[in-house]
Amino acid sequence: MNMGVRTYGSASLAGSLFLAAMTAGSAGGRSQPAPEEAAGKILARECYSCHNQVKREGALSLHTYRTLMKGGNNGPALVPGNSDESRMIQMVEGLLEPIMPEDGFLADQDIEALRAWVDAGAPPWEGDLGRMRLERLPDIRPAATVRPEVASLAFHPEGTMVAAGSYQEIRLLRPGEGVDARLTGLAETVRSVAFSPDGSRLASGAGMPSRFGEIKIWDPVTRELVRGWEGHTDCIYSVAFSPDGSVLATASYDRLVKLWEVETGREIRTISGHVDAVYSLAFNASGDRLASASADRTVKVWDVASGRQLGTPLSGATAELFAMAFYPGGRRIAAAGMDKMIRIWDLGEEGGVLAGSVFSHDGPVVDLSLTPDGNTLISAGADGRVKFWDAGSLEERKALQAQPDTVLALAVSPSGETLAVGRYDGMVVFEPIP
Ligand code: HEC
Repeated sequence: MNMGVRTYGSASLAGSLFLAAMTAGSAGGRSQPAPEEAAGKILARECYSCHNQVKREGALSLHTYRTLMKGGNNGPALVPGNSDESRMIQMVEGLLEPIMPEDGFLADQDIEALRAWVDAGAPPWEGDLGRMRLERLPDIRPAATVRPEVASLAFHPEGTMVAAGSYQEIRLLRPGEGVDARLTGLAETVRSVAFSPDGSRLASGAGMPSRFGEIKIWDPVTRELVRGWEGHTDCIYSVAFSPDGSVLATASYDRLVKLWEVETGREIRTISGHVDAVYSLAFNASGDRLASASADRTVKVWDVASGRQLGTPLSGATAELFAMAFYPGGRRIAAAGMDKMIRIWDLGEEGGVLAGSVFSHDGPVVDLSLTPDGNTLISAGADGRVKFWDAGSLEERKALQAQPDTVLALAVSPSGETLAVGRYDGMVVFEPIP
């Protein structure tokens, strides 16, 4: 059944978010971005994939302004105020070998923008390029939309309620009816929400960039905050309840995974092993294993009791991983991200082997979901498409019509019949799962 399109959300300028806040001229403006914003965007798009913390070609990392200014094997990458003398500019112009980016040429206006930035004294941009790369994912930003994005979604285990994480709030909606309640008082964008398996609790993960992660536990019936605490040193991107509901796992941009006792908020353990932001987490059905997917291009599987990493990381991805799903049997994991591929790995006692892959979208994959029977894998791409795949063979079963705006979050109903799709324009749409 198609449950139709439901709109919700209030128009608020505050909702134009970090994303819009990073664009000079803000929502709807067409004014020229500041030189450092323009340069940061080009470096994030064209150069970061080879010059980051994991892959530091020429020993040059563009992860932060500081690492860029440290330079590479041959010294400084640029001379502020003098583009002609700058190695980086000489390389993109083709005056110095090898030409950068190594896999092609920059557009003329991009070269001009980099030049203008260096000549302006190479002022620093806000934040780091890895984050800029992620935050800028939705390229097609509507000119005048002020409605907060839907950054995260979860179905209540009884199927009667959906939680949608947005800017500084969570909306509780009833499928087919609309918004029921709003939970407010959250830091920035709520990038992750999850219901406990018995449905009695809702967990949210949010936070302030480079400052703290915020974890809150709610009662979805009374809508009251049960408990809240700060953890991590950066935003939280994923929260997951253990199958018995006693443990909450959180993953953060600070590269760490943490386990918490839900009843008290006490930290049980920190799991460190990723070398870049961790974007997605999932427990297996028995709760003895936890998987995490990271911008470091790996999925790692952890023994929950000891915090020990099991086997070698699941590898093969050539860029940041944003989304992951654990198959119901606990023997298989799917993950996807920046390189537009969906990959599946079969798990052994230790580690796992790549069991399949498919080129899935004309843009990065931002979310993945599995039906409860494990038969259908669903992907959302920054290309605005939602696709249904045979979870075993990775054959495409169906694609939804292109959405009018970037899809940021997916959630499958417990019956496996309905898909909730959360979009950048603040809409949640319900679609039947074929
Ligand atoms: C596909 C991979 C790739 C991309 C994309 C890429 N680079 Fe590089 N870059 C390299 C490699 C490999 C080297 C090392 C070359 C060597 O030492 O011969 C390098 C070296 C450099 C160096 C010199 C570092 C040193 O001190 O030796 C600079 C500066 C540089 N790149 C700038 C850029 C800029 C600016 C961009 C984007 C416009 C970019 N690169 C995109 C692969 C890449």
